[in-house]
Amino acid sequence: MLVVDYGAQYAQLIARRVRDADVYSEVVPHTLNTADLLAKNPVAIILSGGPSSVYAEGAPRVDPELFSAGVPVLGICYGFQAMASALGGTVAKTGLREYGSTQVAASGVGGSLLDGVPEHQNAWMSHGDSVQAAPDGFEVLASTAGAPVAAFADETRRLYGVQWHPEVKHSDHGQQVLENFLFKGARLDANWTTGSILEEQVDRIREQVGDARVICGLSGGVDSAVAAALVQRAVGDQLTCVFVDHGLLREGEAEQVERDFVAATGVNLYVANEQKRFLDALAGVSDPETKRKIIGREFIRAFEEAERAIIAQAQAHGEKIRFLVQGTLYPDVVESGGGEGAANIKSHHNVGGLPEDLQFELVEPLRALFKDEVRAVGAQLGLPAEIVGRQPFPGPGLGIRIVGDVTQERLDLLRRADAIARAELTAAGLDNEVWQMPVVLLADVRSVGVQGDGRTYGHPIVLRPVSSEDAMTADWSRLPYDLLARISNRITNEVEGVNRVVLDITSKPPGTIEWE
Ligand code: XMP
Repeated sequence: MLVVDYGAQYAQLIARRVRDADVYSEVVPHTLNTADLLAKNPVAIILSGGPSSVYAEGAPRVDPELFSAGVPVLGICYGFQAMASALGGTVAKTGLREYGSTQVAASGVGGSLLDGVPEHQNAWMSHGDSVQAAPDGFEVLASTAGAPVAAFADETRRLYGVQWHPEVKHSDHGQQVLENFLFKGARLDANWTTGSILEEQVDRIREQVGDARVICGLSGGVDSAVAAALVQRAVGDQLTCVFVDHGLLREGEAEQVERDFVAATGVNLYVANEQKRFLDALAGVSDPETKRKIIGREFIRAFEEAERAIIAQAQAHGEKIRFLVQGTLYPDVVESGGGEGAANIKSHHNVGGLPEDLQFELVEPLRALFKDEVRAVGAQLGLPAEIVGRQPFPGPGLGIRIVGDVTQERLDLLRRADAIARAELTAAGLDNEVWQMPVVLLADVRSVGVQGDGRTYGHPIVLRPVSSEDAMTADWSRLPYDLLARISNRITNEVEGVNRVVLDITSKPPGTIEWE
């Protein structure tokens, strides 16, 4: 089914909620004309909310033709008003705005959309205009203090609308309303499951790749691991993965790739051990942006060298490598223009971009998927939980978590402190409460301490646990004091050179998540 995006931040969320109900959904821009929209053969359409007022000059309109195509439609917020206006209802600016949680009262008419939803419910609203009169053929299903028509339905044409946002968690029965539309209104089948996603993607990869050779870079992160595992499932030994070990990963992460990932997938892995190369290139550099540039540059060089070695091997067998796997996700596709054509090439390793003259065609098996779907597919493919559930980790790795220049000794120290903090967070069962928890070494700062009988002059370690939805904004996580005490005790006792552990209690903004 299609979600038509009227420019709100909610369209992707609607698509996700629809997929939560096991129905495949795609987001399309509202600029797509009705003929092109219908050419996609949608089984149902949802018109999203949007920032406009239907009265505003240049406000996007809905073509009334859309409603006579026999496709069930649900309008949400702006989509609801635009639908009302297109079909001859009245939309007015009443001066009564409703933002946030609002009481919705059912009119008692019944019907499929509000089936099973209590007569009074709290729903999340964000509107200035409201529908005053429903178009002909529609029944009013609900109202609020500020919106005489807060939901309507024409069961014959299977057209529905709600003023509130059923896709946000703050709407008490939002998912129920969406599912009522999908299953009772539009009468769709729930067939978009992890198993079906996997089968479909495997078929697509086989079709695209044929018997050609494929190369893939692994970063240790979720996306590249799941993309590679899918391609491996589809074309087996035609795939070779490259893992550039830059020595800036956390404890156990290189082993996760080299041992656990290979054991779970049976993939051909080419490992480039480049720890010394990165350390040498970073020697004496403390400026964070310079570090990033150096790490990105060296990464691309190391990747290209590995690629040349693999191509040389392949050519020895009379084969060329034709495809490169990229872990592009659906939100990137939507944000770069809505799913048609090639998405911006995102570097598979999150460190720096790949060179523009790369001579490969792209295989992007995650292009249709949201992150939670990627994790589910990874689990279904048998990948280890540590890889599938991994929190975000920056491409430049520990290189940008040492404030100061990067040395082997400092990397070892930070790796131990980070491993302790992560192990204690996991043992406390709080992994899911925290979006990510950077552990930072202030290598340029020293402070006085007393340990055993002696005075120490050591470095502080900063804990930066944050909660976030998307890393754009974040708040510091309120971890329990006894957990923080255990982490602090263990780090100061077990990691030589550290005599102080501090907690970062800054939100983003004004702070960023990482320190560099
Ligand atoms: P900030 O520090 O900007 O981080 O609040 C937002 C998110 O991005 C990650 N991050 C990076 N990821 N390369 C990456 O691949 C980088 O250079 C980089 N810097 C920050 C950070 O971990 C957080 O998830």
